[in-house]
Amino acid sequence: MEQTKRGKVVVTGSFITDIAVFTSRFPADGETVPGRSIQFGPGGKGSNQATAASRAGAEVIMITKIGTDFMGEIARTHYKNENMTQKYVYTQEGGETGSAIIEINAETAENRIIVLKGANDALTKEEIDQAEAEFQECDVLLTQLEASQISVLESIRLARRYGKTVVLNPAPAGEIDEALFGEIDYFTPNETEAEFYTGIRVTDEQTAERAADRLLDKGVKNVIITLGKIGVYAKTKEFQGIVPAFRVKAVDTTGAGDAFNGGFCAALAEGKSVRDAVSFANALAALSVTRRGTSPAMPYRGEIEKC
Ligand code: ATP
Ligand code: RIB
Repeated sequence: MEQTKRGKVVVTGSFITDIAVFTSRFPADGETVPGRSIQFGPGGKGSNQATAASRAGAEVIMITKIGTDFMGEIARTHYKNENMTQKYVYTQEGGETGSAIIEINAETAENRIIVLKGANDALTKEEIDQAEAEFQECDVLLTQLEASQISVLESIRLARRYGKTVVLNPAPAGEIDEALFGEIDYFTPNETEAEFYTGIRVTDEQTAERAADRLLDKGVKNVIITLGKIGVYAKTKEFQGIVPAFRVKAVDTTGAGDAFNGGFCAALAEGKSVRDAVSFANALAALSVTRRGTSPAMPYRGEIEKC
């Protein structure tokens, strides 16, 4: 899929330092098991999504907050290497950068995560407002629920003010004001998040459709539910149904949802149809699960186009 226009995506959300340990099996309660390897790297849902969108060809403005510890330097180095602006990478004096302990089962590629949000939770309304001109100029806002609640609300308010497309990836799942649903153009939960907001256990196309209908009743305009290696169920104004995942050998699925969301928004921002944007994002996410890590695993435009 050739790039015709470079879209602009504002991403507000978390930067997290990921500490990922690969093991042959997860320990039971009270048990110690040997690890196979450990990997430190840049992560966090917001930052992973921003990295995916940027590598996919979008101009990305990342708005986040880090601490004054050594992990904040991992963020700064990452954005420098990715040629992403640090104008809105705020610092909480004396604060701790977000961090996550990730266990990855090297046999199944499944993961378990404990996340400490740290400075992400201190991202303020005023800090979002400093980027108002970026909201005015962008095509799409992409946000999640891993930074402060006020930053999410203010981002959505600003994007709506300028008539921009609002994409909310409701991860990690948490309570949101019912009134907010009506402000969202694309709501992009995974299966467990879809269940959290609807009470419907999502396992296949039929249950995904029922969950999507319930979310539409709440007021969101379009629903895209990611279903892991099955792919995606979409119920949008443009089309409905399953868009299958690409078949790959997964080695680490951490951040697959972030890869999808970043790719989807980059594609929407450059004017692709929703169907094409979902396919593009599926390709991006499939490539990402064939590599270890989260942000570092995001593929570049040329790789996605060859998929
Ligand atoms: P995470 O929480 O780890 O970021 P997630 O649960 O939010 O992930 P998933 O639904 O697992 O997200 O995956 C997102 C997308 O990534 C899927 O819709 C699909 O396109 C792609 N994907 C995930 N796992 C695989 C896989 N094993 N093979 C191919 N594509 C995959
Ligand atoms: O979605 C994956 C991300 O969630 C990881 O990078 C980790 O930081 C957690 O927040």
